[in-house]
This record gives sequence, structure tokens and C-alpha cells, in this order.
Amino acid sequence: MEILDGKVVSARIKEDIAKEANDFFEVTGRKPHLVAILVGHDGGSETYVASKIRNCEKVGFKSTLVRYEDNVTEDELLAKINKINDNEAVDGLIVQLPLPEHIDPEKVTAAIDYRKDVDGFHPINLGRMMRNLPCFIPATPYGIMLMLEYYQIETEGKHAVVIGRSNIVGSPMSILLARNSNPGNCTVTLTHSKTQNLPDIVRQADIIVAAIGRKNFVTADMVKEGAIVIDVGINREESSETKSGYKLYGDVDYEQVAPKTSWISPVPGGVGLMTIVGLLKNTLKSAKGDIY
Ligand code: GUN
Repeated sequence: MEILDGKVVSARIKEDIAKEANDFFEVTGRKPHLVAILVGHDGGSETYVASKIRNCEKVGFKSTLVRYEDNVTEDELLAKINKINDNEAVDGLIVQLPLPEHIDPEKVTAAIDYRKDVDGFHPINLGRMMRNLPCFIPATPYGIMLMLEYYQIETEGKHAVVIGRSNIVGSPMSILLARNSNPGNCTVTLTHSKTQNLPDIVRQADIIVAAIGRKNFVTADMVKEGAIVIDVGINREESSETKSGYKLYGDVDYEQVAPKTSWISPVPGGVGLMTIVGLLKNTLKSAKGDIY
């Protein structure tokens, strides 16, 4: 069993990003610039956004955090997005999800200029991804693809079972793995909460991507000997053992599952760190005009 080590891979790729950001600065006199909008005080979102901002600084990007209270109106938020869309000094704009009930995430996603949509959530980017055209790829699936590429994992012809059909991870991941590309060229089964005989299907997988958001959902009896297991779960539980006051658990029962696998990504220290890399790469590409 070998580890898909997000710490190693993200550090390596961030070195390259920092070099490229420096080259960009020398040519243009400016830094790639990411703006993140955070509404409310959701604990997970606070942590993720803080990490995005910190990582921007680390690789030599400029970042701006725009904060709103829970009671911000949809109109106010959309007006701000339009303003940032028009600001030529901004390369990437993300609105952290989830949003409060009274704000429609579809409206917000579609309002972001697709040329600054470094989360890759805009329908234009999703459509272009399906067609294998240049686009921003959602950060977590992008990070997973970079990880598979780094370890030169052979995916062609393999049966990949994705668990969870979210817009952010499961659905785009299923498209990327099925695309005619490397990594890619998998036979993909996208499973979800209504799937019948889910354990039977997962047992057939050469590659498992667990993105269902439930602690220990994937158990050892569901995993074929030698499978590659990618754990996207970030399940937070309060804990007195850690300084932060909470502990992270993946969607995979790591202790039991790991010995059966050929490769497995841990939580923490796996995919979570790669999400940031995906976001940074998209922001750099936007600044350089590599896609649009
Ligand atoms: N919420 C959970 N993951 C993400 C992400 O990748 N981007 C944004 N904007 N919100 C999220």
C-alpha cells in the first residue's frame, strides 16, 4: 500500500506556481489576484477561505477577502460580483459555498464572469469541460487529477466508481475521469444516495472516489484488493484532542481499508491540500490569459 501524499505533491506544485508567479510579476509588475467572498460564519467555510488566502500569500499572489454577514441581500451580493467582474486588476473570483438559504447559489455562480471563475462552477466552464475544451476545472477534481498525474497512476480502461454527485466534486470528477485524456479514459460509475446495491458496485471498482460527506462510509468489505482509493471527505467533529477544537475524518474507514489498497489518500493530508493547488493553478492561468 502506498500513500497519495497531498503534503508532498502540493508542496512540490506550489514551488512551481511560486516561480511562475514571480516570472509573471517581473514581466507585468503585478501579482495574480484572487478575490474570495465569504458570507456568514460557517466554521468549515472560515477555515477553507483562511487557508486559500494564506496560500495565496505563500506563492506570491495578491488576495482580497470580502466578508458579508448572513443577512446580506442577494441583490447586494450580485452587485458586488458585477463590480469585481469589471475590475481589471482581479484575475479570479470565488464565492465560498454554502450560502444562506435566501441566496440562490445558481444565480451567484452564473453571475461570476466565467473568465474569472477559478472555481470552475459556471455553466460555461462546466460545458466546456464536458467538451474537453480549455476551461477552469473545479478545484477539488482538478487537484485529484494533478495527484494522479504526479504519481503516474495508470487510469486508462479502469473502472472508476465515484460516490456522491455534488456539483463541486462528484459530478465533475466523473466527467474528468471519463474524458479522453491522461489521467482519464476510465469507465465511470457515478453513484449517489439513491443507488441500489451500492456496496456491490463499489466492490467492482479499480478506483474509488469517495465524496459523499459521511464519516467511515466506505468500509473494508466494499473495497477490492489492490484498489486505488481517493478520499474526498472532510467531516468535522468536535474534539478536545486538537488545538483547533475539532478533528477531521474522511469518508473512508482508513484503518480497515488502507491495507487492502494499492494507493490511498489520507484525511487530513490528502485531497484537501490539493484543492488549494487546483485553485492557485486556475488563478495563475487566469492572470496569464492561458484559457481565455
Ligand atoms: N465549498 C466547498 N468547497 C468549495 C470550493 O471548492 N469552492 C467554493 N467556492 N466553495 C466551496
